[in-house]
Amino acid sequence: MYGEEFEDKVVLVTGSQQGLGESTVLLFASLGSKIVITDLVKDEIEKVALKCQSVSPKKYKPLTVVCDLTSEDEIKKLVKETIDTFGRLDVLVNNAGYYTEGNVLQPEVLKIWDNHCLVNVRAIMNLCHLFLPYLVETKGCIITVTNIPVAFYPEYYVCATTSRAAADMFTKNMAAQFASKGVRVNTVHVGGIDTPGFGRMAHAEEKRKVLLEITPLRRLAQPKEIAKAIWFLASSGASFMTGISLTVDGGAILL
Ligand SMILES: NC(=O)c1ccc[n+]([C@@H]2O[C@H](COP(=O)([O-])OP(=O)(O)OC[C@H]3O[C@@H](n4cnc5c(N)ncnc54)[C@H](O)[C@@H]3O)[C@@H](O)[C@H]2O)c1
Repeated sequence: MYGEEFEDKVVLVTGSQQGLGESTVLLFASLGSKIVITDLVKDEIEKVALKCQSVSPKKYKPLTVVCDLTSEDEIKKLVKETIDTFGRLDVLVNNAGYYTEGNVLQPEVLKIWDNHCLVNVRAIMNLCHLFLPYLVETKGCIITVTNIPVAFYPEYYVCATTSRAAADMFTKNMAAQFASKGVRVNTVHVGGIDTPGFGRMAHAEEKRKVLLEITPLRRLAQPKEIAKAIWFLASSGASFMTGISLTVDGGAILL
């Protein structure tokens, strides 16, 4: 429906070597966008780049950048390579996420918190800091993937859920500040997604069972289902939406 509007647009998705990030770059590549794939492992990134090129109508080769989002220098390099290569950015998708178990009573909880903040909040703020001047030029948009705002496994996920709430508030602030400059900023609130990342979580099978119980649609999302929500928020179909959290969770927030 809104496919052609993404032709030749430059779309950068963090955490795009697998899972939801991979699905998202594949979707935009199939719509003719110029893609920036960035994550931690070069070989994985290159595999996704080949897939993107094969679905791209004009066979565009994505830019691939290994970037550890905990490093300010690497983020600077990611921004520079993107602008040096394409000269613009239209869509920034903050998809990379860090989550590990952490209980507030653990001695090392502040270290665990800092690690969450680096990827889930600080990197997003830095990417916005560096890319917003370009997004203002293109009247582009930012979409950040966070969680539904529930205290899922509160004894384990205080750092993960709290850092996501910070990203939600940052999004609202950016939306309010940059609306007059034509930049829309939104989040997608996800529940469980069936990705390799989910499978690697501690106690993944137990968590899958709990999620199935609390999700009225009785399944996890397929990555493509969330990628389409990201595409929608980036599209002119969402041209009057900014500062919102689009919930795509199979109804999990209801229970
Ligand atoms: N899968 C789920 O059930 C679920 C649930 C809630 C939220 N999420 C969030 O949705 C997003 C996509 O989910 P997914 O399961 O595909 O994610 P995932 O766990 O596979 O993570 C996405 C990517 O982020 C990258 N990443 C992590 N730390 C990084 C760093 N320091 N620098 C650069 N890249 C880094 C990882 O390498 C990975 O490829 C993530 O933000 C995730 O936290 C997922």
